[in-house]
Amino acid sequence: SRKYRAFPPVGLKDRTWPDRVITRPPVWMSTDLRDGNQALFEPMNVATKMRLFETIVRVGVKEIEVGFPSASQIDYDFVRKLIEEDRIPEDVTIEVLTQAREDLIARTFESLRGARRAIVHMYNATAPAFRRIVFNMTPDQVRELAVRNARLIKEHAARQPETEWVFQYSPEVFSGTELPVAKDVVDAVMDVWQPTPERKAIVNLPATVEMSTPNIYADQVEWMHRHLKRRDSIVLSVHPHNDRGTAVAAAELAVMAGADRVEGCLFGNGERTGNVDLVTLALNLYSQGVHPGLDFSDINAVARTVEECTQLPIHPRHPYVGDLVFTAFSGSHQDAIRKGMAAQRADAYWEVPYLPIDPADVGRTYDSIVRVNSQSGKGGIAFLLETGYGLVMPRRLQVEFSAAVQRVADATGTELSAQALWELFSEEYLVP
Ligand code: KIV
Ligand code: ZN
Repeated sequence: SRKYRAFPPVGLKDRTWPDRVITRPPVWMSTDLRDGNQALFEPMNVATKMRLFETIVRVGVKEIEVGFPSASQIDYDFVRKLIEEDRIPEDVTIEVLTQAREDLIARTFESLRGARRAIVHMYNATAPAFRRIVFNMTPDQVRELAVRNARLIKEHAARQPETEWVFQYSPEVFSGTELPVAKDVVDAVMDVWQPTPERKAIVNLPATVEMSTPNIYADQVEWMHRHLKRRDSIVLSVHPHNDRGTAVAAAELAVMAGADRVEGCLFGNGERTGNVDLVTLALNLYSQGVHPGLDFSDINAVARTVEECTQLPIHPRHPYVGDLVFTAFSGSHQDAIRKGMAAQRADAYWEVPYLPIDPADVGRTYDSIVRVNSQSGKGGIAFLLETGYGLVMPRRLQVEFSAAVQRVADATGTELSAQALWELFSEEYLVP
């Protein structure tokens, strides 16, 4: 794979910014099989979940939320199958969601019988709209509910000592909860669980609904990072949704603001506008020279599996994976790419104009980079004939032949493939 610069050079000697960059990847948690799954027209069955689980494992995610077993029989059966058939690699931890309710917690622990290691993820609503409109509860009552059920979780865990338990708590719609209320509930839950630096608990701060510009969410996360009572015993996690279209930025700023862990889905599946896209986050890091610890060297294979399991198509312009994202249509772009490719040395920083990363690093090919239509110039045409057919055209011939290409493209109104270009070239210059 290529080398990438940490961030663009700013050209100032006394540079004081950027004052924060991400220098190591967060812990990744995939909730494709839970948050992603609950947002599908047709939720996945056990076999489909297993297929996607195995893909997520292959990508390298080490924490995977596999379902909500107390709410769905399919999820319950899936958790049982994972455990009974020993499908969970040693270095992967499964996670399950539960509401803060006695019967659901009991069923959750039943589903996890015999697990080697598991994260039990409890949540309850803390945001004022829920307190007032949905549950008619005061902040104190919300805290008491969380504490009561946190105790139950601890008791159940003590009765199943064969499992290494990790506890996770989410105040729901953290993004809409008053910070002192969120802190009060989280601190109270942690008082029950008593995490230590050796045995941490996870505090997850969901932007259940994305409500603000990403810097505000990051400020909220930073405030918790600075004010939580047992910060050194907590893995601080974020869970951005994408209602304003800024979940990736929100996650990146939140990591800069102190978060250790990010929950999201491959290609941004999830409720409404989706959870934050783990692939974009990971490859954004990669393109800045920070290896994300995830493997997207065959991104198309991952995309195909996700599309088949979710029955949702990935947009052709989706960052890093869309069909069109390594394609240049305009002539000036094609020309710059061609020159960049020619100048690029294998051991130098990646520097090809218009291409943020080397497509080969995600298993894409150069062939699809340059397409020729009526907007294209001679550079792209020359590139396709050179890379596809070994034809190096002198400059004058490039100019002459590109006029012929433009005429055909104008007349047909379509794009010309490398093969069509070669056929046209053969007709014009080679066939007697
Ligand atoms: O978005 C959300 O708040 C959730 C919680 C259950 C963590 O998915
Ligand atoms: Zn969510």
